[in-house]
Amino acid sequence: MHPMLNIAVKAARRAGNLIHRASDNIDHLTVTKKSQADYVSEVDRAAERTIIETLLEAYPSHAILAEESGAQGQSEYVWIIDPLDGTTNFLHGFPQYAVSIALQHNGVLSQAVIYDPTKNDLFTASRGRGAFLNDKRLRVSKRKEMIDSLIGTGFPYTRFEHMDAYMDIFKDVMQNSAGLRRPGSAALDLAYTAAGRFDGFFETGLKPWDIAAGCLLITEAGGIVSDLAGNQNYLASGHVCAGNPHIHEQLLKIIAPHLTDGLKG
Ligand code: IPD
Ligand code: CA
Ligand code: CA
Repeated sequence: MHPMLNIAVKAARRAGNLIHRASDNIDHLTVTKKSQADYVSEVDRAAERTIIETLLEAYPSHAILAEESGAQGQSEYVWIIDPLDGTTNFLHGFPQYAVSIALQHNGVLSQAVIYDPTKNDLFTASRGRGAFLNDKRLRVSKRKEMIDSLIGTGFPYTRFEHMDAYMDIFKDVMQNSAGLRRPGSAALDLAYTAAGRFDGFFETGLKPWDIAAGCLLITEAGGIVSDLAGNQNYLASGHVCAGNPHIHEQLLKIIAPHLTDGLKG
């Protein structure tokens, strides 16, 4: 395992264990509302501190971009961290959430870890070396037809500027697939796409820390990730379409007629 991935795994497991211990006691957590339907708990913050400490202890000169504490440092190496993806699920005792850590080197995603503490599932990827779930090599699904496919998504829930276009896409995907799921953690949705559990995925308005690790997992598992217009601007725009190559292409075709200017980027 690449030494930087190894450190990221250590950080993700530490944070995951902390989150798992805290899940026994969710009724007593201090929770703050960041904006409408956007909550943060002391667990998100403690997990993020543990991750940053572990990474910077090994690589003091690296930079950080983390959901709760923002950006720190300047380096060709940037760690992109979501300490707890799926906070709403976590706060409701709904067991679908994960730690997500990615490393960007000179702007290119190079290492990725997504750790699901309730299932002890560790998803990892290194650029050029494939994607894994625990010790098993991951491949995206082989399904060829949209109508046979299971598609993951996330609903808009804090900002609603793309709501109408999203609902139009949602209707079309609903009528042209075998099923749609909204599990509540974009990081795990992408990891599941890498693992072939989902054949495709789309969501709008995501942040770099929601998707950085998951996107590398998918490309290393032989899948395709793009923005909703089929371009590579997804980390910046937060609009994501992903899947195995067949389903990614068919999803883009379904999405195309509904693209507003705001969703093209
Ligand atoms: C959220 C989850 C969710 C997605 C949201 C994200 P958080 O992350 O990934 O699935 O739909 O857009 O913000 O806030 O739980 O870290
Ligand atoms: Ca997130
Ligand atoms: Ca989070």
